[in-house]
Amino acid sequence: MRTQVVIIGSGPSGLLLGQLLANEGIANIILERASRDHVLGRVRAGVLEQGTLDLIDEAGAGERMHAEGLPHEGISLAFDGRLHRIDLAALTGGKRVMVYGQTEVTHDLMDKREAAGLATIYEAGNVEPHDFSGEAPYVTYEKDGVGHRIDCDFITGCDGFHGVSRKSVPSTAIRTYERAYPFGWLGILAEVPPAGHELIYANHPRGFALCSMRSTHRSRYYVQCPLDDRIEDWSDDRFWDELRRRLPAEAAAGIVTGASFEKSIAPLRSFVAEPLRFGRLFLVGDAAHIVPPTGAKGLNLAASDVRYLYWGLREFYRENSSAGIDAYSSRALSRVWKAVRFSWWMTTMLHRFPDTDDFGQRIQEAELDYLVHSQMASAALAENYVGLPY
Ligand code: FAD
Ligand code: DHB
Repeated sequence: MRTQVVIIGSGPSGLLLGQLLANEGIANIILERASRDHVLGRVRAGVLEQGTLDLIDEAGAGERMHAEGLPHEGISLAFDGRLHRIDLAALTGGKRVMVYGQTEVTHDLMDKREAAGLATIYEAGNVEPHDFSGEAPYVTYEKDGVGHRIDCDFITGCDGFHGVSRKSVPSTAIRTYERAYPFGWLGILAEVPPAGHELIYANHPRGFALCSMRSTHRSRYYVQCPLDDRIEDWSDDRFWDELRRRLPAEAAAGIVTGASFEKSIAPLRSFVAEPLRFGRLFLVGDAAHIVPPTGAKGLNLAASDVRYLYWGLREFYRENSSAGIDAYSSRALSRVWKAVRFSWWMTTMLHRFPDTDDFGQRIQEAELDYLVHSQMASAALAENYVGLPY
């Protein structure tokens, strides 16, 4: 078999890239290790930057997102018993974010891909990229016990943090930067109306909490928890109780409780691999970098990589020029590192660390107090939250 671009992974980055390339007439095949239902069953990100919306629109998969997504013009920071609103739109010349779940984005892109008759091979085993340092790369995989080979021009590793693409690169060719945080996020989904119209990020001596949502009738909440906590330790009652204790009274009063239908614990990590290009193999999204979720940048960064790589590949096929793909790694990494910094800063300011003592707590509160009362500091947060320019 032969195609122009083999995409490893059908998460948001693989699906988005595949659709944009296909719209340009660039043939691609997606190889996905898991089943379609498994990919759709993963509950992850929820906040999309304007640039991500634009790219989904460009791919032609934005219709339901605009109909059902919730545009948000502000967020609140909670500390010292009070809520403080950051007016994102007023501070950024009218920019907003959209609350629309990653599951829905993935669903819309999969539907679009299927409708266009584009090839995705789910449950592809032992996917392996080969010979990407030369001119004739290929990918091998197994399906139903039978081995296959796809020859191609380029391989894109959109296969997430645990994927095979990054691991296929010789260790001498790649450098990684990492920080693991000494806590996790316990998240739940419940079919109850959200506590308020906007998201609340709370700093509290008991630990961080986040009030988010997926729709006007579905809420997503998180509390910081020890890394070794188990889901079984957290009954719904314990979760609701802990969440309310970490919120100012006016926000806690708005919490509507109900049975959770999803509950999971995610570790927090910052990770960047450099560079993002190895001959004819490109790393994209979580395959190359991870940010802690505070600040909602993970999915948006995956989309920003896709945009730069799409531009590069389009230029290669349309104009027979390698300039765009040559610039991909440095362009994408420059934006990645700024989001890594922002996510690290939000995480540091809002969470309780093992060595956070009374002094540390007061310093966090002073920083937050400065932030919400300084127009310039608020504007810097808002500029990053809605997404830096491309
Ligand atoms: P992924 O979504 O990881 O997709 C990679 C795909 O590749 C998967 O479908 C996987 O099955 C497939 N794959 C892996 N290995 C192979 C292989 N060997 N062969 C073939 N296919 C393979 N971001 C936020 O902004 N907010 C959040 O609240 C948030 N919560 C998160 C919670 C969790 C538990 C995780 C893991 C991430 C979270 N993120 C969040 C980050 C966000 O979901 C990711 O940044 C985003 O999914 C990146 O998309 P991606 O397509 O690059 O990678
Ligand atoms: C969500 C997750 C985040 O990390 C964030 O900063 C905002 C919202 C969410 O899952 O809804």
